[in-house]
Amino acid sequence: MNDRTPTAQLFLAFGHGILPAGATAVLLTILTVGWFTQPDRFQRGYSPAQPIPYSHRLHAGIHKIPCLYCHTNARRSRHAGVPAVSTCMNCHTVTMTASPHIQKLTAVFNSGQPMNWKRIHSLPDHVYFDHRPHVNGGIECQTCHGEIQSLDVVSQHMSMRMGNCLGCHRDAHDGLPSDSEIQEGPEHCNACHRRNPYKRHGYPAWMTSLESQEASRF
Ligand code: HEC
Ligand code: HEC
Ligand code: HEC
Ligand code: HEC
Ligand code: HEC
Repeated sequence: MNDRTPTAQLFLAFGHGILPAGATAVLLTILTVGWFTQPDRFQRGYSPAQPIPYSHRLHAGIHKIPCLYCHTNARRSRHAGVPAVSTCMNCHTVTMTASPHIQKLTAVFNSGQPMNWKRIHSLPDHVYFDHRPHVNGGIECQTCHGEIQSLDVVSQHMSMRMGNCLGCHRDAHDGLPSDSEIQEGPEHCNACHRRNPYKRHGYPAWMTSLESQEASRF
């Protein structure tokens, strides 16, 4: 009953051995491509070019301008925020006005448009982060963002992976002042995966029944 030609038989024999290897190769390719093209938000060291070479070392380091002078919202809102150009102009209407960078800054200010700063730290939409409990709990900006005041160019210091958040939430001692009464952060899924009025997109389906999956998923 064997009506296959020898060539076809050879092909079939080959196929049986090769297919699993082929599937593995495809999988490996997907994983590799996925790894190298993963969103910038997960890349520690991510440091996009900014429209003006603003230096934290100069301002927050040498001139000791407090972080909250510019990132005023860190204590009272989810987002620390990036300062409006008018904050820069508190000084730069008089400071270094001959510099081409300050002239560009002034032009942006006069245009009434915001400065097009590139965002560096950014969690996916399905994650809720709030600066308030962290900053008001006494965790230093540097614990998460690194020694910003000694950098000319900001880059992403912390990992945005879930494991990194949970690592501190399980035992927060190292991140907190020694006399702090806080021991830990929340570990229940809804703390970080909650309905989030600030995010544009809806919730992915897997999240709507999260609490029931809590015990089994991880
Ligand atoms: C004079 C204003 C000013 C001060 C003071 C200042 N910053 Fe900034 N910060 C900025 C501006 C402008 C940006 C956006 C441009 C950039 O990324 O360099 C920024 C960006 C950042 C970012 C990255 C934001 C993102 O997109 O993810 C972090 C983190 C940050 N600052 C932390 C700090 C900390 C911590 C301090 C205190 C040690 C501080 N800053 C002091 C103006 C300031
Ligand atoms: C509290 C005052 C103050 C504020 C606010 C401030 N700066 Fe400055 N900035 C300075 C001083 C002082 C220098 C000069 C630093 C030095 O040379 O030691 C400077 C220098 C600079 C330079 C370097 C210019 C050059 O050509 O070397 C840039 C760019 C700059 N600032 C951008 C900004 C931006 C953008 C903001 C707002 C996010 C800002 N500054 C807010 C005081 C300030
Ligand atoms: C517990 C860790 C942690 C601490 C402490 C912390 N940050 Fe952040 N910061 C983050 C994370 C995570 C993001 C990204 C948030 C997102 O994408 O929603 C972020 C984002 C930012 C941004 C980008 C804009 C924004 O507001 O989302 C700035 C600026 C910033 N932080 C400044 C600060 C400053 C200044 C302090 C200290 C007063 C500080 N952060 C303390 C974790 C931290
Ligand atoms: C350095 C330690 C540390 C890191 C890193 C950290 N957290 Fe926290 N977080 C805490 C502590 C401590 C608390 C509890 C504060 C309290 O009880 O006042 C907390 C509280 C929270 C809360 C509760 C807010 C509320 O209103 O109930 C959320 C949400 C949260 N963290 C999200 C995150 C996310 C998302 C990340 C990672 C991107 C993260 N945290 C990284 C220490 C940390
Ligand atoms: C302290 C904050 C925090 C808590 C608590 C938390 N997560 Fe997350 N989760 C994150 C962050 C940050 C991300 C995005 C980064 C990543 O994928 O690692 C994430 C991503 C995810 C993702 C998507 C993974 C992907 O590939 O995009 C799933 C699924 C998830 N979490 C499920 C859960 C479940 C289930 C729980 C409860 C057992 C939980 N999370 C508790 C912070 C948290």
